[in-house]
Amino acid sequence: MTSSKLTWGDANVLKLSNIDTFYGPIQALRNVSLSVEQGEIVSLLGGNACGKSTTMKTILGLVRPRQGEIEFLGQRIEKLSPSAIVRAGISPVLEARRLFPYLTVYENLRMGAYVRKDKKEILEDIERMYDLFPVVKDRYRQLASTLSGGEQQMVAMARALMARPKLLIMDEPSMGLSPLFVDKIFEIIQQINQTRGVSILLVEQNANMALSIASRGYVLQTGEIVLYDTARKLLNNPQMQKAYLGVA
Ligand SMILES: Nc1ncnc2c1ncn2[C@@H]1O[C@H](COP(=O)(O)OP(=O)(O)O)[C@@H](O)[C@H]1O
Ligand SMILES: [Mg+2]
Repeated sequence: MTSSKLTWGDANVLKLSNIDTFYGPIQALRNVSLSVEQGEIVSLLGGNACGKSTTMKTILGLVRPRQGEIEFLGQRIEKLSPSAIVRAGISPVLEARRLFPYLTVYENLRMGAYVRKDKKEILEDIERMYDLFPVVKDRYRQLASTLSGGEQQMVAMARALMARPKLLIMDEPSMGLSPLFVDKIFEIIQQINQTRGVSILLVEQNANMALSIASRGYVLQTGEIVLYDTARKLLNNPQMQKAYLGVA
């Protein structure tokens, strides 16, 4: 598939074109092209080991593509350092949270703003995060390691937002959470998108949930995009229902 078929619109925030990524001799991504438009939630779906996290790491500069281009707000980023990519406006919420376990919740939030110099506004943003995530406020003095999985996920999202990103990339935010927290997390993702205008690339195995809040979706299978469409069409796609949506 060519990239022109996989991306559309001309308000691309993020655009991957024909990305190949390897781990040594093993090819993890094959000709991956996708886009996220201004203000969109796009979900990247697929089962275990299909390359979802690798796509995310490639965007973040944590692994280098051997082939292909990545554009963010019109600027090529595939050769930038991970910190330059964060400074450019992409903020990750990594798999399994990855908070600093021996820092407090408050300190974790401060760390999220490490690319910023505007001290006063950083403090104001912490207050905003407390409004958005009341549980983060309740626990601000606790060590991150003492929080439940769902609470840690909230802190991880708040920390990512502290960088004031234009694009948020989330790796399986629902993983390991109780159903109640899963609902809550997806509600907040939607809220962040709608009220702050942050574009979101949502990497998920939970296709039902992800497509319920996304405008479009891409499906990865062994490192290749095999299906892409609007979220509504994917939800109604029989192939999709059988393989990923648990519809018999
Ligand atoms: N650091 C690594 N070294 C070697 N192979 C890796 C590494 N990370 C991931 N892989 C392999 O790349 C493939 C895609 O992995 P990943 O992107 O983590 O998939 P997903 O996030 O969809 O579960 C898998 O076959 C995995 O074993
Ligand atoms: Mg993964």
